Amino acid sequence: MATETQRGIAVLGSTGSIGRQTLDVVRAFPDHLRVVALAAHGNIALLAEQAREFAPEIVAYTSDDPATQAQAAELLPHALHGVEGLTAAATHPDADTLVAATSGLIGLRPTLAAIRAGKTIALANKETLVMAGHLVMAAAREAGVDILPVDSEHSALWQSLRGERIAEVRRLLITASGGPLRQATLEEMRDVTVERALAHPTWRMGQKITIDSATLMNKGLEVIEAHWLFDMPYDQIEVVVHPQSIIHSMVEFVDDSIKMQASLPSMHLPIQDALSYPARWNRAETALSHPLSWPNVARLDFETVDMERFPCLRLAYEAGRRGGTAPAVLVGADEQAVPLFLQGKIRLTDIAAILEETLSRHTVIEDPTLDDVLAACAWAQDEALRLYSEPTAARERNSE
Ligand SMILES: NC(=O)c1ccc[n+]([C@@H]2O[C@H](COP(=O)([O-])OP(=O)(O)OC[C@H]3O[C@@H](n4cnc5c(N)ncnc54)[C@H](OP(=O)(O)O)[C@@H]3O)[C@@H](O)[C@H]2O)c1
Repeated sequence: MATETQRGIAVLGSTGSIGRQTLDVVRAFPDHLRVVALAAHGNIALLAEQAREFAPEIVAYTSDDPATQAQAAELLPHALHGVEGLTAAATHPDADTLVAATSGLIGLRPTLAAIRAGKTIALANKETLVMAGHLVMAAAREAGVDILPVDSEHSALWQSLRGERIAEVRRLLITASGGPLRQATLEEMRDVTVERALAHPTWRMGQKITIDSATLMNKGLEVIEAHWLFDMPYDQIEVVVHPQSIIHSMVEFVDDSIKMQASLPSMHLPIQDALSYPARWNRAETALSHPLSWPNVARLDFETVDMERFPCLRLAYEAGRRGGTAPAVLVGADEQAVPLFLQGKIRLTDIAAILEETLSRHTVIEDPTLDDVLAACAWAQDEALRLYSEPTAARERNSE
């Protein structure tokens, strides 16, 4: 049971990169935070270790693999299973905040359930807002709950917007490190190896999001997220390349003033900020202490994005502006195309070609329900796989 001064948190995706860093924040602030629920997919050994350390009320996992289930029966005999287990974890009565940090689509329904149960949402999972932003934000408004960003860029925008009027914002400027291929030519991008595309210069993350950073698809998803989080038209959201990843995003106001948030690149800070809001917790004496030393910042560079080399960003703007089921199609096609690249079956530049072709074959549903969104995403996954076995003009151009 969380004490009155402790915030109870449920962590979906506790064994992942964001989940593990969330637990680092709990370790640093045990007087403020208490873990009520933990959930993951198939990494039972780590989930069991986390359960021993944090003694949550609920543990859940979703893997249907028989060996994983046997391991869970032994190490976590009381664990709940499946999406019902995730939902029970997300909505546990003692949880004040849900940290939504699963990858992929699985977190969408449990997150909506947590919103309806009145939980504050610390949102890391991009797909939730990209695919169903209209449903999630409407549900949050109705339930009167906050959706707090757990992403360095959106956290920077959110921090810069605190105390400001959204009507006085001219532009949101989302910074992008440019990823490992910032300076690569189109030819180099066509022939890039998986290893090089995974070598992100400033961030250590999972493979899918790292490839999405190399194509700037990740930035495109962030643009759509920012549109929903801050109710900002796409014409007022821009991407600025900033290779040092020190300035995490900026807000330009109508009087030409620009506010920006700076810190060394680390996900601990946006996670902590979402969990401490509206307070800021002093971490000088904790293991997370990581202050920026300005004399060590030799320079800060800013560049415009080359949309020709990074067509995934253009496609994300187009899908976002089109709205309805178009962003879900983008997500579904990307979920298939990135593994195809990681398995060496397509070129990096084929990813955009597959996304563009899938989008062009889709009949957009306006104002979709959750089932429409999930169906469009599943359709796009199938369509992207079909396209892989059926060469398109754009992919043929790539192999010339
Ligand atoms: N990493 C970052 O720096 C970062 C920054 C901003 C936003 N994000 C977003 O945050 C989310 C998580 O990213 P990540 O990098 O932490 O991913 P990750 O390291 O791949 O971890 C994914 C987590 O989700 C769990 N999971 C996957 N499929 C699941 C399923 N079907 N049911 C239940 N749990 C499932 C995994 O469990 P198992 O380990 O048991 O498989 C793991 O705990 C993504 O949407 C990503 O775009 C990440």
